[in-house]
Amino acid sequence: MTSELAAIVDGLNEPQKKISPKYFYDERGSQLFEKITELPEYYLTNAELDIMKTYVDDMAALVGPQASLIEFGSGSSLKTRILLEHLVDLAAYVPVDISQEHLWDSAQQIRKEFPAIDVRPVVADFTQPFALPTPAVMPVKNVVYFPGSTIGNFEHEASLDLLRVMYQEAGEDGALLIGVDLRKEADVINRAYNDRAGVTAEFNLNVLRHLNTSYGANFDLDAYEHSAVYDKDEGRVVVELVSQADQSFEIGGARFYIANGETILTEYSHKYTLEGFARMANAAGFTVAE
Ligand code: TRP
Repeated sequence: MTSELAAIVDGLNEPQKKISPKYFYDERGSQLFEKITELPEYYLTNAELDIMKTYVDDMAALVGPQASLIEFGSGSSLKTRILLEHLVDLAAYVPVDISQEHLWDSAQQIRKEFPAIDVRPVVADFTQPFALPTPAVMPVKNVVYFPGSTIGNFEHEASLDLLRVMYQEAGEDGALLIGVDLRKEADVINRAYNDRAGVTAEFNLNVLRHLNTSYGANFDLDAYEHSAVYDKDEGRVVVELVSQADQSFEIGGARFYIANGETILTEYSHKYTLEGFARMANAAGFTVAE
């Protein structure tokens, strides 16, 4: 058994069964997530795009000239393009992603659109420290860029660890430009993760299809339902798959039993207060500039 399969089996052996959110993103899952970002209920993408459009000049002024922009993630989004258009004399653009294929495709695309920018993709798992490339022009500072409130998908300790890696990559004179989703009315959040068209449900269930097709599992896709509920006290959406029967499934040579109503946890999406996020950023070494 590969160590990857062993890790999947470990997650399903825990008292609260879990599947890592990274298994959402096979080809079909990535397409479904694209569709999520276009849903009327999913306010995050539009809100962040509006913020970028409104404040990009201020952001560019804070970044300053000749910076190296280090994006955690492969960076094919419109938000990245808006930022790149406004940064002056960028020393380099460094997208960092674990998936080489995706990374190279989007790096090529950025090179085509911005021929003047030195694009230096790095294949790495950005939850661990990684070596930065040496661009032709020496950067004045490193600015880590992490949009999409993706940090919200990490649990508390893991998000603190990630911020520490970001601090280390940014260096003494560096900075972090990050998008985080704020706490708000529960209804608004619940709608964003339970869209009427059912795309989010399909996206969540796709994780089981992915394990079936790529990891030899035998989940019955019709026997699970999507659930996403905002826990106000914890400030996070709990995304789960709910078993609709007493049933079993197999993966990695192991057989698992799951009761009617029992859940498999697939993701948390944490929401923050400005103070709460600032406190976490401080703990990792950052002070809030804006
Ligand atoms: N980063 C996104 C978020 O937390 C990911 C996401 C959006 C998501 N919708 C989802 C994850 C539904 C699981 C299920 O908002």
